[in-house]
Amino acid sequence: MNQYDYIIVGSGIAGLYTSLLAREQGSVLILTKGSIDECNTKYAQGGIAAAIGVGDSAELHYRDTIAAGAGLCDPEAVRILVEEAPDRITDLVNFGVPFDTLNGEVALTREAAHSGPRILHAGGDATGEHIEVTLSRMASLAKIAILEHFLATEIIVEDGVVKGVRALDCATGSLEEFGCKFVILATGGSGRLFKSTTNPDIATGDGIALAYRAGAEITDMEFFQFHPTALRLPGVIPFLISEAVRGEGAILRNVDGHKFMFDYSPEGDLASRDIVARSILAEMRKAGSDRVFLDATHLPRHKISARFPQIYRFCLDHGLNITKALIPVAPAAHYMMGGVKTNAWGESNIAGLFAAGETACTGVHGANRLASNSLLEVVVFAKRILQRTGEGVKPSELARQPSAGDYFSLPERESSGSVPPLSLLALQSLMWDEVGMVRSGEGLEKAASILASWQKSADKPSDRPSYELDNMILTGRLMAEAALIREESRGAHFRSDFPEPSPDWLKHVVFRKTG
Ligand code: FAD
Ligand code: SIN
Repeated sequence: MNQYDYIIVGSGIAGLYTSLLAREQGSVLILTKGSIDECNTKYAQGGIAAAIGVGDSAELHYRDTIAAGAGLCDPEAVRILVEEAPDRITDLVNFGVPFDTLNGEVALTREAAHSGPRILHAGGDATGEHIEVTLSRMASLAKIAILEHFLATEIIVEDGVVKGVRALDCATGSLEEFGCKFVILATGGSGRLFKSTTNPDIATGDGIALAYRAGAEITDMEFFQFHPTALRLPGVIPFLISEAVRGEGAILRNVDGHKFMFDYSPEGDLASRDIVARSILAEMRKAGSDRVFLDATHLPRHKISARFPQIYRFCLDHGLNITKALIPVAPAAHYMMGGVKTNAWGESNIAGLFAAGETACTGVHGANRLASNSLLEVVVFAKRILQRTGEGVKPSELARQPSAGDYFSLPERESSGSVPPLSLLALQSLMWDEVGMVRSGEGLEKAASILASWQKSADKPSDRPSYELDNMILTGRLMAEAALIREESRGAHFRSDFPEPSPDWLKHVVFRKTG
Protein backbone atom coordinates (compact mmCIF):
# COMPACT_ATOMS: atom_id res chain seq x y z
CA MET A 1 0.00 0.00 0.00
CA ASN A 2 1.41 3.46 -0.96
CA GLN A 3 2.13 5.57 2.11
CA TYR A 4 1.85 9.38 2.43
CA ASP A 5 1.99 11.91 5.23
CA TYR A 6 -1.20 13.61 4.03
CA ILE A 7 -4.07 12.31 1.96
CA ILE A 8 -6.39 15.11 0.93
CA VAL A 9 -9.78 14.18 -0.47
CA GLY A 10 -11.05 16.83 -2.87
CA SER A 11 -9.60 19.46 -5.17
CA GLY A 12 -11.64 22.62 -4.54
CA ILE A 13 -10.17 25.53 -2.61
CA ALA A 14 -9.96 23.46 0.59
CA GLY A 15 -8.11 20.56 -1.04
CA LEU A 16 -5.76 22.63 -3.16
CA TYR A 17 -4.93 25.23 -0.53
CA THR A 18 -4.18 22.61 2.13
CA SER A 19 -2.08 20.64 -0.36
CA LEU A 20 0.08 23.69 -1.10
CA LEU A 21 0.74 24.16 2.62
CA ALA A 22 1.08 20.44 3.41
CA ARG A 23 3.81 19.81 0.82
CA GLU A 24 6.08 21.99 3.01
CA GLN A 25 5.63 19.43 5.78
CA GLY A 26 5.55 16.04 4.08
CA SER A 27 4.38 13.92 1.20
CA VAL A 28 0.91 14.66 -0.16
CA LEU A 29 -1.64 12.82 -2.29
CA ILE A 30 -4.87 14.42 -3.51
CA LEU A 31 -7.72 12.10 -4.44
CA THR A 32 -10.54 13.72 -6.36
CA LYS A 33 -13.58 12.01 -7.81
CA GLY A 34 -13.84 14.03 -11.02
CA SER A 35 -11.35 16.12 -12.92
CA ILE A 36 -9.35 18.55 -10.80
CA ASP A 37 -11.61 21.54 -11.46
CA GLU A 38 -14.97 19.90 -10.76
CA CYS A 39 -16.01 21.57 -7.52
CA ASN A 40 -18.23 24.23 -5.94
CA THR A 41 -15.29 26.60 -5.66
CA LYS A 42 -15.16 27.26 -9.39
CA TYR A 43 -18.68 28.74 -9.28
CA ALA A 44 -18.19 31.17 -6.37
CA GLN A 45 -19.28 34.59 -7.54
CA GLY A 46 -19.62 37.23 -4.82
CA GLY A 47 -16.14 36.83 -3.33
CA ILE A 48 -14.33 36.40 -0.04
CA ALA A 49 -14.96 38.45 3.09
CA ALA A 50 -12.19 40.17 5.09
CA ALA A 51 -12.23 43.34 7.16
CA ILE A 52 -9.49 45.17 5.29
CA GLY A 53 -11.36 48.32 4.17
CA VAL A 54 -11.06 51.81 5.62
CA GLY A 55 -13.42 52.08 8.59
CA ASP A 56 -13.92 48.33 8.81
CA SER A 57 -12.57 46.14 11.61
CA ALA A 58 -12.36 42.53 12.75
CA GLU A 59 -14.78 43.53 15.53
CA LEU A 60 -17.47 44.64 13.03
CA HIS A 61 -16.95 41.47 10.97
CA TYR A 62 -17.23 39.45 14.19
CA ARG A 63 -20.51 41.12 15.13
CA ASP A 64 -22.07 40.63 11.69
CA THR A 65 -21.07 36.95 11.61
CA ILE A 66 -22.42 36.32 15.10
CA ALA A 67 -25.68 38.15 14.29
CA ALA A 68 -26.24 36.10 11.12
CA GLY A 69 -25.54 32.85 13.01
CA ALA A 70 -28.65 33.40 15.19
CA GLY A 71 -27.15 32.37 18.52
CA LEU A 72 -25.31 29.24 17.40
CA CYS A 73 -21.89 30.46 16.23
CA ASP A 74 -18.87 29.36 18.23
CA PRO A 75 -17.50 32.75 19.38
CA GLU A 76 -13.90 31.50 19.59
CA ALA A 77 -14.02 30.15 16.03
CA VAL A 78 -15.54 33.40 14.74
CA ARG A 79 -12.85 35.42 16.51
CA ILE A 80 -10.18 33.30 14.77
CA LEU A 81 -11.98 33.69 11.43
CA VAL A 82 -12.14 37.47 11.45
CA GLU A 83 -8.72 38.09 13.00
CA GLU A 84 -6.75 35.72 10.75
CA ALA A 85 -8.61 36.85 7.61
CA PRO A 86 -6.23 39.59 6.40
CA ASP A 87 -3.17 37.29 6.61
CA ARG A 88 -4.89 34.55 4.68
CA ILE A 89 -5.94 37.04 1.98
CA THR A 90 -2.27 37.98 1.71
CA ASP A 91 -1.47 34.27 1.22
CA LEU A 92 -3.97 34.07 -1.66
CA VAL A 93 -2.51 37.22 -3.23
CA ASN A 94 0.97 35.68 -2.90
CA PHE A 95 -0.26 32.51 -4.59
CA GLY A 96 -1.36 34.78 -7.44
CA VAL A 97 -5.13 35.21 -7.04
CA PRO A 98 -5.85 38.40 -9.04
CA PHE A 99 -8.30 40.25 -6.81
CA ASP A 100 -9.94 43.23 -8.54
CA THR A 101 -8.68 46.72 -7.74
CA LEU A 102 -10.13 50.20 -7.99
CA ASN A 103 -7.84 53.23 -8.16
CA GLY A 104 -4.92 51.09 -7.05
CA GLU A 105 -6.69 49.70 -3.97
CA VAL A 106 -8.36 46.31 -3.55
CA ALA A 107 -11.99 46.74 -4.64
CA LEU A 108 -14.56 45.82 -2.00
CA THR A 109 -18.25 45.17 -2.45
CA ARG A 110 -21.12 44.67 -0.08
CA GLU A 111 -23.30 41.63 0.44
CA ALA A 112 -26.35 41.01 2.58
CA ALA A 113 -26.02 41.37 6.38
CA HIS A 114 -22.50 42.79 6.20
CA SER A 115 -22.42 46.24 7.82
CA GLY A 116 -20.22 47.66 5.07
CA PRO A 117 -18.24 46.86 1.91
CA ARG A 118 -16.03 43.89 2.85
CA ILE A 119 -16.00 41.44 -0.04
CA LEU A 120 -12.94 41.02 -2.26
CA HIS A 121 -13.65 39.64 -5.71
CA ALA A 122 -11.80 38.63 -8.85
CA GLY A 123 -12.82 39.00 -12.49
CA GLY A 124 -15.96 40.78 -11.30
CA ASP A 125 -18.16 37.79 -10.47
CA ALA A 126 -15.61 35.09 -11.40
CA THR A 127 -13.91 34.92 -7.99
CA GLY A 128 -14.16 31.16 -7.61
CA GLU A 129 -12.88 30.43 -11.08
CA HIS A 130 -9.82 32.62 -10.50
CA ILE A 131 -9.11 30.95 -7.16
CA GLU A 132 -9.50 27.45 -8.58
CA VAL A 133 -7.39 28.13 -11.67
CA THR A 134 -4.65 29.85 -9.64
CA LEU A 135 -4.41 27.16 -6.97
CA SER A 136 -4.56 24.25 -9.41
CA ARG A 137 -1.80 25.86 -11.46
CA MET A 138 0.28 26.20 -8.28
CA ALA A 139 -0.40 22.57 -7.33
CA SER A 140 0.68 21.44 -10.77
CA LEU A 141 3.87 23.57 -10.63
CA ALA A 142 4.59 22.12 -7.18
CA LYS A 143 4.18 18.63 -8.69
CA ILE A 144 1.69 17.57 -6.02
CA ALA A 145 0.51 14.02 -6.65
CA ILE A 146 -3.11 14.04 -7.68
CA LEU A 147 -5.30 11.16 -8.73
CA GLU A 148 -8.31 12.38 -10.68
CA HIS A 149 -11.43 10.20 -10.98
CA PHE A 150 -10.65 8.46 -7.68
CA LEU A 151 -13.64 8.49 -5.36
CA ALA A 152 -12.91 7.97 -1.65
CA THR A 153 -15.22 5.23 -0.38
CA GLU A 154 -13.96 4.68 3.17
CA ILE A 155 -11.70 6.23 5.78
CA ILE A 156 -9.60 3.45 7.26
CA VAL A 157 -9.46 3.75 11.08
CA GLU A 158 -7.74 1.31 13.46
CA ASP A 159 -8.00 1.61 17.24
CA GLY A 160 -9.40 5.12 16.89
CA VAL A 161 -6.53 6.34 14.71
CA VAL A 162 -6.68 7.11 10.99
CA LYS A 163 -4.62 4.78 8.80
CA GLY A 164 -5.62 5.71 5.26
CA VAL A 165 -8.30 5.88 2.63
CA ARG A 166 -9.96 3.31 0.42
CA ALA A 167 -10.93 4.68 -3.00
CA LEU A 168 -12.67 3.61 -6.17
CA ASP A 169 -10.72 4.04 -9.38
CA CYS A 170 -13.67 5.28 -11.44
CA ALA A 171 -11.97 4.31 -14.70
CA THR A 172 -11.39 0.64 -13.86
CA GLY A 173 -13.94 0.05 -11.09
CA SER A 174 -11.29 -1.37 -8.76
CA LEU A 175 -10.94 -0.43 -5.08
CA GLU A 176 -7.48 0.69 -3.91
CA GLU A 177 -5.99 1.49 -0.51
CA PHE A 178 -3.70 4.40 0.33
CA GLY A 179 -2.00 4.69 3.71
CA CYS A 180 -1.21 7.95 5.52
CA LYS A 181 -0.68 9.75 8.81
CA PHE A 182 -3.35 12.39 8.29
CA VAL A 183 -6.53 12.47 6.21
CA ILE A 184 -7.96 15.86 5.33
CA LEU A 185 -11.53 15.66 4.06
CA ALA A 186 -12.13 18.52 1.62
CA THR A 187 -15.10 17.05 -0.19
CA GLY A 188 -17.33 20.15 -0.33
CA GLY A 189 -21.09 20.54 -0.02
CA SER A 190 -24.31 18.64 -0.55
CA GLY A 191 -26.60 20.85 -2.62
CA ARG A 192 -27.31 17.99 -5.06
CA LEU A 193 -29.54 16.43 -2.43
CA PHE A 194 -32.15 18.97 -3.47
CA LYS A 195 -34.14 19.24 -6.68
CA SER A 196 -33.11 22.83 -7.32
CA THR A 197 -29.57 23.88 -6.43
CA THR A 198 -26.78 26.24 -7.38
CA ASN A 199 -24.27 23.42 -6.77
CA PRO A 200 -22.60 21.29 -9.45
CA ASP A 201 -22.91 17.47 -9.66
CA ILE A 202 -20.04 16.70 -7.26
CA ALA A 203 -21.87 18.19 -4.23
CA THR A 204 -23.27 14.93 -2.86
CA GLY A 205 -22.29 15.11 0.81
CA ASP A 206 -19.66 12.36 0.50
CA GLY A 207 -17.34 13.66 3.24
CA ILE A 208 -20.12 13.77 5.81
CA ALA A 209 -21.20 10.21 5.00
CA LEU A 210 -17.61 8.88 5.01
CA ALA A 211 -16.83 10.58 8.32
CA TYR A 212 -20.06 9.42 9.97
CA ARG A 213 -19.41 5.81 8.96
CA ALA A 214 -15.87 6.10 10.36
CA GLY A 215 -17.24 7.25 13.74
CA ALA A 216 -16.78 11.03 13.48
CA GLU A 217 -19.12 13.52 15.10
CA ILE A 218 -21.47 15.26 12.65
CA THR A 219 -23.26 18.41 13.73
CA ASP A 220 -25.66 21.22 12.69
CA MET A 221 -27.12 19.13 9.87
CA GLU A 222 -30.49 20.89 10.16
CA PHE A 223 -28.93 24.11 8.90
CA PHE A 224 -28.87 24.16 5.13
CA GLN A 225 -28.78 27.52 3.39
CA PHE A 226 -31.05 28.34 0.44
CA HIS A 227 -29.81 31.17 -1.74
CA PRO A 228 -32.60 33.64 -2.47
CA THR A 229 -31.77 34.41 -6.08
CA ALA A 230 -31.11 31.60 -8.54
CA LEU A 231 -32.16 32.25 -12.14
CA ARG A 232 -35.61 30.85 -12.90
CA LEU A 233 -35.94 30.35 -16.65
CA PRO A 234 -37.68 27.31 -18.15
CA GLY A 235 -35.18 24.64 -19.18
CA VAL A 236 -32.19 26.56 -17.77
CA ILE A 237 -30.12 25.45 -14.75
CA PRO A 238 -30.70 27.50 -11.57
CA PHE A 239 -27.63 29.64 -12.23
CA LEU A 240 -26.71 31.85 -9.28
CA ILE A 241 -27.45 35.56 -9.48
CA SER A 242 -24.99 36.82 -6.88
CA GLU A 243 -26.08 38.61 -3.75
CA ALA A 244 -23.51 41.21 -4.77
CA VAL A 245 -25.97 42.29 -7.51
CA ARG A 246 -28.26 43.42 -4.69
CA GLY A 247 -25.17 44.74 -2.89
CA GLU A 248 -24.62 47.02 -5.90
CA GLY A 249 -28.23 48.27 -5.82
CA ALA A 250 -30.54 45.78 -7.57
CA ILE A 251 -34.01 45.40 -6.03
CA LEU A 252 -36.40 42.49 -5.62
CA ARG A 253 -39.92 42.94 -6.97
CA ASN A 254 -42.89 40.59 -6.84
CA VAL A 255 -44.96 39.63 -9.89
CA ASP A 256 -46.95 42.88 -9.48
CA GLY A 257 -43.76 44.95 -9.57
CA HIS A 258 -43.94 45.79 -5.84
CA LYS A 259 -40.58 46.17 -3.99
CA PHE A 260 -41.52 43.81 -1.20
CA MET A 261 -38.42 43.30 0.94
CA PHE A 262 -39.07 46.27 3.27
CA ASP A 263 -42.44 44.65 4.09
CA TYR A 264 -40.45 41.85 5.73
CA SER A 265 -37.30 43.43 7.16
CA PRO A 266 -35.88 46.90 7.95
CA GLU A 267 -32.71 45.77 6.11
CA GLY A 268 -34.80 45.38 2.95
CA ASP A 269 -33.02 43.66 0.06
CA LEU A 270 -29.87 43.26 2.13
CA ALA A 271 -31.48 41.37 5.01
CA SER A 272 -29.81 38.07 5.89
CA ARG A 273 -30.11 35.27 3.37
CA ASP A 274 -32.64 33.15 5.28
CA ILE A 275 -35.01 36.12 5.66
CA VAL A 276 -34.77 37.12 2.00
CA ALA A 277 -35.24 33.51 0.83
CA ARG A 278 -38.33 32.97 3.00
CA SER A 279 -39.78 36.37 2.04
CA ILE A 280 -39.46 35.43 -1.62
CA LEU A 281 -41.15 32.10 -0.92
CA ALA A 282 -44.00 33.92 0.84
CA GLU A 283 -44.44 36.29 -2.13
CA MET A 284 -44.36 33.38 -4.58
CA ARG A 285 -46.99 31.50 -2.58
CA LYS A 286 -49.20 34.58 -2.27
CA ALA A 287 -49.16 35.12 -6.01
CA GLY A 288 -49.23 31.42 -6.96
CA SER A 289 -46.05 32.03 -8.93
CA ASP A 290 -42.78 30.09 -9.17
CA ARG A 291 -40.66 33.28 -9.29
CA VAL A 292 -40.13 36.87 -8.27
CA PHE A 293 -37.90 39.35 -10.10
CA LEU A 294 -34.59 41.04 -9.50
CA ASP A 295 -34.47 44.49 -11.03
CA ALA A 296 -31.05 45.81 -12.07
CA THR A 297 -32.34 47.92 -14.96
CA HIS A 298 -31.75 51.21 -13.11
CA LEU A 299 -28.02 50.44 -12.68
CA PRO A 300 -25.61 51.81 -15.31
CA ARG A 301 -25.31 49.33 -18.17
CA HIS A 302 -21.51 49.31 -18.20
CA LYS A 303 -21.47 48.71 -14.44
CA ILE A 304 -23.51 45.52 -14.80
CA SER A 305 -21.49 44.13 -17.69
CA ALA A 306 -18.12 45.03 -16.12
CA ARG A 307 -18.92 44.08 -12.54
CA PHE A 308 -20.93 40.94 -13.31
CA PRO A 309 -19.58 39.68 -16.64
CA GLN A 310 -20.44 36.00 -16.04
CA ILE A 311 -24.01 36.68 -14.96
CA TYR A 312 -24.54 39.21 -17.75
CA ARG A 313 -23.16 36.79 -20.37
CA PHE A 314 -25.01 33.71 -19.05
CA CYS A 315 -28.35 35.53 -19.08
CA LEU A 316 -27.69 37.06 -22.50
CA ASP A 317 -26.85 33.61 -23.88
CA HIS A 318 -30.32 32.55 -22.68
CA GLY A 319 -32.07 35.48 -24.31
CA LEU A 320 -32.23 37.81 -21.29
CA ASN A 321 -30.54 41.21 -21.33
CA ILE A 322 -30.42 42.07 -17.63
CA THR A 323 -29.59 45.72 -18.28
CA LYS A 324 -33.06 46.06 -19.86
CA ALA A 325 -35.25 43.27 -18.46
CA LEU A 326 -36.12 42.01 -14.98
CA ILE A 327 -34.36 38.79 -13.92
CA PRO A 328 -36.74 35.97 -12.91
CA VAL A 329 -35.38 34.36 -9.72
CA ALA A 330 -36.34 31.85 -7.03
CA PRO A 331 -34.50 30.34 -4.06
CA ALA A 332 -32.31 27.25 -4.56
CA ALA A 333 -30.29 24.98 -2.26
CA HIS A 334 -26.87 26.50 -1.84
CA TYR A 335 -24.67 25.80 1.19
CA MET A 336 -24.36 23.21 3.96
CA MET A 337 -23.66 24.92 7.29
CA GLY A 338 -23.36 21.64 9.19
CA GLY A 339 -20.87 18.86 8.65
CA VAL A 340 -17.94 17.07 10.25
CA LYS A 341 -17.51 18.63 13.67
CA THR A 342 -14.06 20.10 14.12
CA ASN A 343 -12.30 22.12 16.76
CA ALA A 344 -10.38 25.33 16.09
CA TRP A 345 -7.56 23.23 14.52
CA GLY A 346 -9.78 21.49 12.00
CA GLU A 347 -9.61 18.21 13.98
CA SER A 348 -12.45 15.74 14.14
CA ASN A 349 -12.86 13.45 17.15
CA ILE A 350 -10.91 10.71 15.29
CA ALA A 351 -7.14 10.99 15.72
CA GLY A 352 -5.56 12.02 12.44
CA LEU A 353 -8.85 12.88 10.69
CA PHE A 354 -9.32 16.54 9.73
CA ALA A 355 -11.98 18.33 7.73
CA ALA A 356 -11.72 21.60 5.81
CA GLY A 357 -14.13 23.67 3.77
CA GLU A 358 -17.82 23.09 3.24
CA THR A 359 -17.78 19.51 4.54
CA ALA A 360 -16.49 20.74 7.92
CA CYS A 361 -18.45 22.41 10.67
CA THR A 362 -15.94 24.65 12.45
CA GLY A 363 -18.71 26.56 14.24
CA VAL A 364 -18.27 29.87 12.43
CA HIS A 365 -21.60 29.85 10.60
CA GLY A 366 -24.02 28.83 13.35
CA ALA A 367 -27.57 28.65 12.02
CA ASN A 368 -26.96 30.85 9.00
CA ARG A 369 -23.78 31.65 7.07
CA LEU A 370 -22.91 35.22 6.32
CA ALA A 371 -22.25 35.68 2.61
CA SER A 372 -18.65 35.13 1.47
CA ASN A 373 -17.53 33.80 4.83
CA SER A 374 -17.13 30.27 3.46
CA LEU A 375 -14.15 30.80 1.17
CA LEU A 376 -12.60 32.69 4.08
CA GLU A 377 -13.35 29.86 6.52
CA VAL A 378 -11.55 27.43 4.21
CA VAL A 379 -8.27 29.32 4.13
CA VAL A 380 -8.28 30.29 7.81
CA PHE A 381 -8.93 26.80 9.16
CA ALA A 382 -6.92 24.94 6.50
CA LYS A 383 -3.88 26.88 7.63
CA ARG A 384 -4.55 25.83 11.21
CA ILE A 385 -4.72 22.14 10.22
CA LEU A 386 -1.19 22.43 8.90
CA GLN A 387 -0.05 24.24 12.04
CA ARG A 388 -1.51 21.43 14.12
CA THR A 389 0.09 18.62 12.13
CA GLY A 390 3.57 20.15 11.87
CA GLU A 391 6.77 19.44 13.77
CA GLY A 392 6.73 15.65 13.95
CA VAL A 393 3.30 15.35 15.56
CA LYS A 394 2.01 11.76 15.56
CA PRO A 395 -1.66 11.14 14.70
CA SER A 396 -2.14 9.11 17.89
CA GLU A 397 -1.28 12.24 19.89
CA LEU A 398 -4.11 14.16 18.30
CA ALA A 399 -7.35 12.60 19.57
CA ARG A 400 -9.51 15.48 20.66
CA GLN A 401 -11.92 15.36 23.56
CA PRO A 402 -15.60 14.72 22.78
CA SER A 403 -17.27 18.08 22.37
CA ALA A 404 -20.14 19.65 24.22
CA GLY A 405 -23.57 19.19 22.70
CA ASP A 406 -26.52 16.86 22.73
CA TYR A 407 -25.44 13.53 21.19
CA PHE A 408 -27.78 11.48 19.03
CA SER A 409 -27.53 8.36 16.93
CA LEU A 410 -29.77 7.61 13.99
CA PRO A 411 -32.87 5.85 15.32
CA GLU A 412 -34.09 2.51 13.99
CA ARG A 413 -37.16 3.17 11.85
CA GLU A 414 -39.83 0.75 10.70
CA SER A 415 -41.14 1.77 7.29
CA SER A 416 -44.61 3.26 7.55
CA GLY A 417 -46.57 4.38 4.52
CA SER A 418 -45.59 3.87 0.93
CA VAL A 419 -41.96 4.10 -0.08
CA PRO A 420 -41.32 5.39 -3.60
CA PRO A 421 -38.76 3.49 -5.69
CA LEU A 422 -35.25 4.82 -5.04
CA SER A 423 -33.81 7.12 -7.70
CA LEU A 424 -31.77 10.32 -7.64
CA LEU A 425 -34.81 12.36 -8.66
CA ALA A 426 -37.02 10.72 -6.02
CA LEU A 427 -34.45 11.60 -3.35
CA GLN A 428 -34.03 15.18 -4.58
CA SER A 429 -37.80 15.70 -4.72
CA LEU A 430 -38.30 14.26 -1.25
CA MET A 431 -35.58 16.49 0.22
CA TRP A 432 -36.91 19.58 -1.59
CA ASP A 433 -40.51 18.98 -0.53
CA GLU A 434 -40.00 17.83 3.06
CA VAL A 435 -36.54 18.96 4.21
CA GLY A 436 -36.45 22.24 2.27
CA MET A 437 -36.97 25.86 3.26
CA VAL A 438 -40.16 25.28 5.27
CA ARG A 439 -40.40 22.05 7.23
CA SER A 440 -42.95 20.37 9.48
CA GLY A 441 -42.77 17.48 11.93
CA GLU A 442 -45.07 15.41 9.74
CA GLY A 443 -43.05 16.00 6.56
CA LEU A 444 -39.76 15.35 8.31
CA GLU A 445 -41.06 12.08 9.79
CA LYS A 446 -42.08 11.00 6.31
CA ALA A 447 -38.70 11.95 4.82
CA ALA A 448 -36.72 10.26 7.61
CA SER A 449 -38.74 7.09 7.29
CA ILE A 450 -38.40 6.88 3.48
CA LEU A 451 -34.67 7.61 3.68
CA ALA A 452 -34.29 4.89 6.33
CA SER A 453 -36.08 2.41 4.05
CA TRP A 454 -33.81 3.34 1.16
CA GLN A 455 -30.79 2.84 3.42
CA LYS A 456 -31.92 -0.75 3.92
CA SER A 457 -33.00 -1.50 0.35
CA ALA A 458 -30.27 0.18 -1.73
CA ASP A 459 -27.95 -2.14 -3.65
CA LYS A 460 -24.32 -2.36 -2.55
CA PRO A 461 -22.57 0.51 -4.37
CA SER A 462 -20.15 -0.37 -7.14
CA ASP A 463 -19.58 2.74 -9.25
CA ARG A 464 -19.48 6.52 -8.79
CA PRO A 465 -23.25 7.16 -9.18
CA SER A 466 -24.19 4.38 -6.75
CA TYR A 467 -21.61 5.44 -4.12
CA GLU A 468 -22.85 9.02 -4.42
CA LEU A 469 -26.48 7.98 -4.07
CA ASP A 470 -25.59 5.94 -0.99
CA ASN A 471 -23.86 8.98 0.51
CA MET A 472 -26.80 11.24 -0.34
CA ILE A 473 -29.25 8.92 1.40
CA LEU A 474 -27.18 8.95 4.59
CA THR A 475 -26.47 12.69 4.47
CA GLY A 476 -30.14 13.40 3.77
CA ARG A 477 -31.14 11.19 6.66
CA LEU A 478 -28.82 13.11 9.00
CA MET A 479 -30.42 16.37 7.79
CA ALA A 480 -33.98 15.14 8.20
CA GLU A 481 -33.41 13.61 11.65
CA ALA A 482 -31.60 16.74 12.90
CA ALA A 483 -34.41 18.95 11.60
CA LEU A 484 -36.94 16.72 13.33
CA ILE A 485 -35.09 16.88 16.64
CA ARG A 486 -34.84 20.70 16.60
CA GLU A 487 -38.36 21.74 17.56
CA GLU A 488 -37.99 25.45 16.90
CA SER A 489 -37.14 27.84 14.05
CA ARG A 490 -33.72 29.43 13.92
CA GLY A 491 -31.63 30.83 11.07
CA ALA A 492 -31.97 28.68 7.99
CA HIS A 493 -34.04 26.03 9.82
CA PHE A 494 -37.74 26.92 9.72
CA ARG A 495 -40.49 24.67 11.10
CA SER A 496 -44.08 25.65 10.39
CA ASP A 497 -45.15 23.73 13.52
CA PHE A 498 -42.57 25.56 15.70
CA PRO A 499 -42.27 28.95 13.97
CA GLU A 500 -40.39 30.78 16.75
CA PRO A 501 -36.89 30.36 18.18
CA SER A 502 -36.76 28.77 21.62
CA PRO A 503 -34.20 29.59 24.33
CA ASP A 504 -34.10 25.83 25.11
CA TRP A 505 -32.51 25.29 21.70
CA LEU A 506 -29.40 27.41 22.06
CA LYS A 507 -27.43 24.19 21.60
CA HIS A 508 -26.25 21.84 18.88
CA VAL A 509 -27.47 18.47 17.66
CA VAL A 510 -24.44 16.18 17.28
CA PHE A 511 -24.69 12.75 15.64
CA ARG A 512 -22.29 9.92 16.35
CA LYS A 513 -22.64 6.34 15.16
CA THR A 514 -23.13 3.81 17.88
CA GLY A 515 -21.44 0.43 17.89
P1 FAD B 1 -15.50 22.13 -3.37
O1 FAD B 1 -14.96 23.31 -4.03
O2 FAD B 1 -16.88 21.75 -3.72
O3 FAD B 1 -14.54 20.89 -3.67
C1 FAD B 1 -14.91 19.60 -3.25
C2 FAD B 1 -14.00 18.61 -3.94
O4 FAD B 1 -14.13 17.32 -3.36
C3 FAD B 1 -14.28 18.44 -5.42
O5 FAD B 1 -13.05 18.39 -6.09
C4 FAD B 1 -14.99 17.08 -5.50
O6 FAD B 1 -14.88 16.44 -6.72
C5 FAD B 1 -14.25 16.35 -4.40
N1 FAD B 1 -14.95 15.19 -3.82
C6 FAD B 1 -16.17 15.15 -3.25
N2 FAD B 1 -16.44 13.92 -2.79
C7 FAD B 1 -15.36 13.15 -3.07
C8 FAD B 1 -15.02 11.79 -2.86
N3 FAD B 1 -15.87 10.92 -2.28
N4 FAD B 1 -13.82 11.36 -3.28
C9 FAD B 1 -12.94 12.18 -3.91
N5 FAD B 1 -13.22 13.48 -4.14
C10 FAD B 1 -14.40 13.96 -3.73
N6 FAD B 1 -18.67 31.13 -0.93
C11 FAD B 1 -18.09 32.31 -0.67
O7 FAD B 1 -17.43 32.47 0.37
N7 FAD B 1 -18.19 33.33 -1.55
C12 FAD B 1 -18.91 33.23 -2.70
O8 FAD B 1 -18.97 34.18 -3.48
C13 FAD B 1 -19.55 32.02 -2.98
N8 FAD B 1 -20.29 31.88 -4.10
C14 FAD B 1 -20.80 30.65 -4.39
C15 FAD B 1 -21.49 30.47 -5.59
C16 FAD B 1 -21.97 29.23 -5.95
C17 FAD B 1 -22.71 29.06 -7.24
C18 FAD B 1 -21.76 28.13 -5.08
C19 FAD B 1 -22.26 26.77 -5.46
C20 FAD B 1 -21.11 28.29 -3.87
C21 FAD B 1 -20.64 29.55 -3.52
N9 FAD B 1 -19.95 29.75 -2.32
C22 FAD B 1 -19.38 30.96 -2.06
C23 FAD B 1 -19.65 28.63 -1.45
C24 FAD B 1 -18.21 28.18 -1.71
O9 FAD B 1 -17.94 28.28 -3.09
C25 FAD B 1 -17.97 26.79 -1.26
O10 FAD B 1 -18.40 26.63 0.06
C26 FAD B 1 -16.50 26.44 -1.33
O11 FAD B 1 -16.00 26.69 -2.62
C27 FAD B 1 -16.29 25.00 -0.94
O12 FAD B 1 -14.96 24.65 -1.19
P2 FAD B 1 -14.50 23.17 -0.86
O13 FAD B 1 -13.09 23.06 -1.30
O14 FAD B 1 -14.87 22.85 0.53
O15 FAD B 1 -15.43 22.25 -1.79
C1 SIN C 1 -23.22 35.08 -3.92
O1 SIN C 1 -22.40 35.58 -4.68
O2 SIN C 1 -24.36 35.51 -3.75
C2 SIN C 1 -22.83 33.87 -3.16
C3 SIN C 1 -22.00 34.27 -2.04
C4 SIN C 1 -21.89 33.19 -1.03
O3 SIN C 1 -22.54 32.15 -1.15
O4 SIN C 1 -21.14 33.41 -0.07
